[in-house]
Amino acid sequence: MPTQRPVNVALIGAGRIGSFHAESVARRLVDANLVAIADPDEGAAQALARKLGVPTAATDFSAVLGEPAVEAVIIASPARFHANLAVQAAEAGKGVFCEKPMALTLEEADRVIAAASKAQVPLQVGFNRRWDQAFAEGRAAIDAGKVGTPQLIRSLTRDPGPYGGSPQKTPRWTIFYETLIHDFDTLVWLNPAARPVEVTAIADALVRPDAKDKGFHDTAVVTIRFDNGSIAVAEANFSAMYGYDIRGEVFGSGGMITMGDVRRSSLTLFDRNGVSSDTWRRDTDHFVHGYTAQLASFVGSVRSGVVKGPTGQDARTALAIALACIKSVEERRTVSMNEI
Ligand SMILES: NC(=O)c1ccc[n+]([C@@H]2O[C@H](COP(=O)([O-])OP(=O)(O)OC[C@H]3O[C@@H](n4cnc5c(N)ncnc54)[C@H](O)[C@@H]3O)[C@@H](O)[C@H]2O)c1
Repeated sequence: MPTQRPVNVALIGAGRIGSFHAESVARRLVDANLVAIADPDEGAAQALARKLGVPTAATDFSAVLGEPAVEAVIIASPARFHANLAVQAAEAGKGVFCEKPMALTLEEADRVIAAASKAQVPLQVGFNRRWDQAFAEGRAAIDAGKVGTPQLIRSLTRDPGPYGGSPQKTPRWTIFYETLIHDFDTLVWLNPAARPVEVTAIADALVRPDAKDKGFHDTAVVTIRFDNGSIAVAEANFSAMYGYDIRGEVFGSGGMITMGDVRRSSLTLFDRNGVSSDTWRRDTDHFVHGYTAQLASFVGSVRSGVVKGPTGQDARTALAIALACIKSVEERRTVSMNEI
């Protein structure tokens, strides 16, 4: 049987999630090699390269893009750099896996999509929830007609508390651009063939009310109307004291599916205090399989040229909802997607 050489991948941005993805490529994927790491923080790139036995560590990502052996890149820099990095990677002929959000404006999103299309390279975006076992089975149940026509759809993200972030260092609207963007993609994906038409959002600082007057938001609720008549709700909070809580629900004319469980496993402790279970505390624990599977799929798309995961267009749709949320909060009104 012919054997295939593993796909050569480079990482751009060796921070928290980039380091996890690097480890996935180097240690959890058999079909890929991690050959280079770039990060403007020299120490970060070198330390990660040393740990994983990666031959090249650079501060300049263009050196990595200029390396002919690199076939694909994983972009895990801060969000504001994603679009430019993705365009440059595509123009260099590399397959692009871009963490969410792919871009912060629709113009940027269009530039990324056009660059990938022109260069004929795969472009996939990091909406890892689609690979979670329960969510994947949920979508399959919808496709099989088991729920009937979706009527009410729900998706929530509650990050594990206590909140330890810094409101001063958190870019404005992070709750929509970086947190709820996962839920927006999930809601659209769980409602196949429907388009979002109208968005209403409320956002507040309930965890850090002291930061509210600086424009910080840690809590939000969003309703989305779709053109098939269904109504969706997304909600987020940055400090769930009981753990990392990701759930989804689709209620339709034929039944209901629920997805996600904050409990780590089916282990239940019965003792003198009652009944208890441990909960997920980190995204990289909860979604270790989903994060790895999305990269396995991406590596497959570098070989086949066919992207099976969330595309640039999917990222654009989720971004458009985030932009509608921002407008809705600023203007305290329902926003039509036609305005975005
Ligand atoms: N899909 C998910 O579940 C998930 C989880 C966490 C983070 N993310 C996303 O991943 C991105 C990174 O998040 P993080 O928490 O790892 O951030 P981080 O701050 O921990 O890491 C960012 C890294 O990028 C580097 N960097 C800064 N400017 C750069 C540039 N111009 N080019 C290349 N690298 C640059 C920084 O030095 C740092 O090492 C964000 O967009 C975030 O929303 C996604």
